[in-house]
Amino acid sequence: MLVLGLETSCDETAAAVVTRDADGTPRIVSSVVLGQMREHEKFGGVVPEIAARAHLKNLDPVVELALEKAGIALGDIDAIAATAGPGLIGGLLVGVMEAKGICAALGKPFLAINHLEGHALTARLTNNVAFPYLLLLVSGGHTQILCVRGLGNYERWATTIDDALGEAFDKTAKLLSLGFPGGPAVEKAATGGNAERFNLPLPMRGQKTLNFSFSGLKTAVRQEAARNQPLDPETISDLCAAFQSVGTSSVCDRAARSMALFEASEASDTQKIFVAAGGVAANKAIRSGLTGLCAERGWQFVAPPLELCGDNAAMIAWAGLERFELGQTSSLDFQARPRWPLDSQVEAVIGGGRKGAKA
Ligand code: KG4
Ligand code: ZN
Repeated sequence: MLVLGLETSCDETAAAVVTRDADGTPRIVSSVVLGQMREHEKFGGVVPEIAARAHLKNLDPVVELALEKAGIALGDIDAIAATAGPGLIGGLLVGVMEAKGICAALGKPFLAINHLEGHALTARLTNNVAFPYLLLLVSGGHTQILCVRGLGNYERWATTIDDALGEAFDKTAKLLSLGFPGGPAVEKAATGGNAERFNLPLPMRGQKTLNFSFSGLKTAVRQEAARNQPLDPETISDLCAAFQSVGTSSVCDRAARSMALFEASEASDTQKIFVAAGGVAANKAIRSGLTGLCAERGWQFVAPPLELCGDNAAMIAWAGLERFELGQTSSLDFQARPRWPLDSQVEAVIGGGRKGAKA
């Protein structure tokens, strides 16, 4: 079975083909990701209207390239999956309309996929991880811990009450004039920096809640930057190192609490797997913090390879394949959704991530 996936919910235009080999192993047949960094760079962030126009211009050639790399024609595809939310509505419409158009023309099944589900299931694509597992979904729009119990069965255990961690990385980079996107720039600048020089506050220190908060940390970085003007490269490096270190501690602290909760509530023979996904999961300091924590507690740590942490279409195609295997498809009437929580049972948290945000 071959599933074509399309991703256009933010600033990456992507198409991919995935399959499951005869022995059941998931496989990415081809994956193409075209970023829009240059289009948005001078604005210091993603401009929705520009993003939508770029998707419109680039999606056809990106799909053609993905098919060419896979060595197949559109007719060989068994189903088409597209990100239908959450995200920027202009981009979502481009991807959803393209998928629906092809499906209608060729009589193929259509699958409307939740972008967050794509991130949530990536570890099953890359590492064939079985359910259940704990998931840290950490990106530009979301910072959540979820218990993934099955396909479509996601319990949100924690979320940010203000900024997402990726957003805090991006704002820190902007403040220190490190460019866009900020995460990789802050990580690079932090290399060799002295994290001890600045005493930035650990968010929600001592609080029992599993939730995250990063706006105080962001403010503390702004105050230190103001106090140390003009900023020399060493100060920038030290500030980035301090920010990254506190961000890592916060993530590890919440991860440890969620593991304890999982251990207390699940049967003792339940597998203990902690998965990280989303753009910020590419951060090496965070990965190594979580690797150490999992080793200490006897958990298995799984994080996708760097290129599958950020937005891509392989994860969308894969979520589509998993749903299609269970006989699920979506109606061609399915409307794109700018907001689409993974766990509809929990209440939204006011300020829980960027407005209109995705992961
Ligand atoms: O999942 P993702 O690709 O898409 C959206 O959230 O839209 O995540 C993007 C986020 C951005 O905030 C970016 O700065 C952050 O992930 N990011 C990183 C790194 N690479 C990307 N943050 C920290 N360290 C990185 N290496
Ligand atoms: Zn994402």
